[in-house]
Amino acid sequence: MPIVTLLPSGHQVEVPEGTLLFDAACRAGLPVASSCSAQAVCGKCVMRVTTGADQLNPISEHEKKVLKRDHREPEERLSCMAKVQGNCSVQASYW
Ligand code: FES
Repeated sequence: MPIVTLLPSGHQVEVPEGTLLFDAACRAGLPVASSCSAQAVCGKCVMRVTTGADQLNPISEHEKKVLKRDHREPEERLSCMAKVQGNCSVQASYW
């Protein structure tokens, strides 16, 4: 199963392939900001992918639109849209 590393603590969580980054962080006991119940609307759940961006599902047009609306960097993903397919590491600004 893929391993997600949560930075800066370096805490690791093993999750089944297809798990959302959002859920992986919650499983690790870390809070994830959200005001849309993970419906890919609010943009608050964004995480910076530091390694393994190619181990996540491709960005959908909807996700691209939300990231662009919020002026996000290319290495950022909505954790409620990003599915883990292999090892990766991510960081949220408030961890
Ligand atoms: S939780 Fe609102 S966009 Fe992801």
